[in-house]
Amino acid sequence: MTVIDHVRADAFPGLLTPDGARWHYLDSAATAQKPDIVIDAVARALGPDYATVHRGLYSRSADMTLAYEAARRAVAALIGGAEHELVFTRGATEAINLVAQSWGVANLRAGDRILLSVLEHHSNIVPWQLIRDRTGIAIDVCPLTADGHIDLDAAERMLTPAHKLVAFAHVSNVLGSVLDVPRAVALAHAVGAKVLIDGCQAVARLPVDVAALGCDFYAFSAHKLYGPTGIGALWARAELLDAMPPWQGGGSMIDKVTFARTTWAPPPQRFEAGTPAIAEAIGFAAAARYVQDQGLAAIHAHETGLVAKTRAALGRINAVRLYGPEDSAGIVSFTLEGVHPHDLGTILDEENVAIRAGHHCAQPLMAELGVPATARASFGLYNDDTDIAALVRGIERTLRIFA
Ligand SMILES: Cc1ncc(COP(=O)(O)O)c(C=O)c1O
Repeated sequence: MTVIDHVRADAFPGLLTPDGARWHYLDSAATAQKPDIVIDAVARALGPDYATVHRGLYSRSADMTLAYEAARRAVAALIGGAEHELVFTRGATEAINLVAQSWGVANLRAGDRILLSVLEHHSNIVPWQLIRDRTGIAIDVCPLTADGHIDLDAAERMLTPAHKLVAFAHVSNVLGSVLDVPRAVALAHAVGAKVLIDGCQAVARLPVDVAALGCDFYAFSAHKLYGPTGIGALWARAELLDAMPPWQGGGSMIDKVTFARTTWAPPPQRFEAGTPAIAEAIGFAAAARYVQDQGLAAIHAHETGLVAKTRAALGRINAVRLYGPEDSAGIVSFTLEGVHPHDLGTILDEENVAIRAGHHCAQPLMAELGVPATARASFGLYNDDTDIAALVRGIERTLRIFA
């Protein structure tokens, strides 16, 4: 049985149009639709189970605290991490900003260098530019191979003992290319640099085990993993988190407060100032359990199968130019000769097909590809051949309109 055999369309209410037709949703790389199991978990947490965490003396709050900490365990388990190494954040963006503002400010000095890549999402570029402007570090940019992978041979040549951090995407949100993380880690660690992996697109598409990957930081968002918005996670090695100063102050992150001096709670609480996103954490855990139940290897196989069929179908249309590698993890970027991606997106919408068109928060990559924008079809575990057929029909209609 394939993944799709297990996923009934009606378990994802967002996959239907208001009149009950199937919506060909091909924008899961932006955000994934939610299964009932996640929606129900959030509704219960906001409804009959609702109370604050970590503070209340009454039993509902104690139960909610247990549920919140169980959610942390479930999300950590998804990536093979330990719960005390898992900080809840607002998303991958905030997780990367946390590392930049806390670890970065404490550890980076003028003269140090960090290595990013051409294909990074803006959320793995801009936080480092803010730190560069504050500390005087230099940012180097690793090029790509011809088929759109981060070029690790080039990284090997570029890395020096001045490099303190390598921050790469595990899966490109535009090209779908998958990074050889263990090799990137080996290269970085050989010069003494730490490694941050932006796992935002990877966690929903591949099995992830931070121990096997060997990285130091791993950042991701719940909403791309069929979970709620407003929550994500930073996993980091315990010894790194222990040594990192807080980056936001407030309730919950302290040990003792006086006007003279405040001491910090241990991680992960040190990095979770204020009342947390309680219901969202519980929905995040439900999503993590859901993808594990489906099997991430099976999801990966399902999505790479859809990519292969899509690339083959689009490859037969002369006006289509495809980007990224053949073995992309669930993402196909393309352009249509003579048609702006925004126009394509608008016409496809009339056909109940939702794609993303634009720069995908990866403007340096667009510059590298020599285009202002691409169209992107990205898959989730609920997509099947009918979605590809609808996409192809919509592209052919668009070409007829523009002919
Ligand atoms: C590769 C990658 N990194 C980071 C992000 C930022 O995620 P969020 O907006 O959920 O914080 C995204 C979202 O598109 C992404 O695709």
